[in-house]
Amino acid sequence: MALYSDKVMDHFQNPRNVGKIEDADGIGEVGNAKCGDIMRMYLKIDDGVITDCKFNTFGCGSAIATSSMATEMIKGKKVEEALELSNKAVVEALDGLPAHKIHCSVLAEEAVKAAVKDYYDKNGIEYDQEKFKGVHNCEACEA
Ligand code: FES
Repeated sequence: MALYSDKVMDHFQNPRNVGKIEDADGIGEVGNAKCGDIMRMYLKIDDGVITDCKFNTFGCGSAIATSSMATEMIKGKKVEEALELSNKAVVEALDGLPAHKIHCSVLAEEAVKAAVKDYYDKNGIEYDQEKFKGVHNCEACEA
């Protein structure tokens, strides 16, 4: 069996939603402690719905494929629904990843969460801190 599924190869070679949104409502930048790769996620939000999202990543093929799939999965969804997106769901939508690349998919989930948190913070929207436990937004970090 091939190491990577057709879907992973497709999203790696033709990633969807790559780029930057200049007037994004939420930006999340996260780093993968295991490999040092980083990902930035931009969200455009209208009336609580994600109308557009784009990403940039300095990461491996699995990170590119998972972020590409993640952006497809959250576009058009309510912000609260996007928050429920797990790396497991993204990996399943890609028909799996090799076990040693699962950590790459965490980057996509955390980038979405960091961007949503940024949106909440910028708009004074209250939220449950527990939902963002362990998510560090480098973009919002002053240090
Ligand atoms: Fe760094 Fe995959 S090896 S994100």
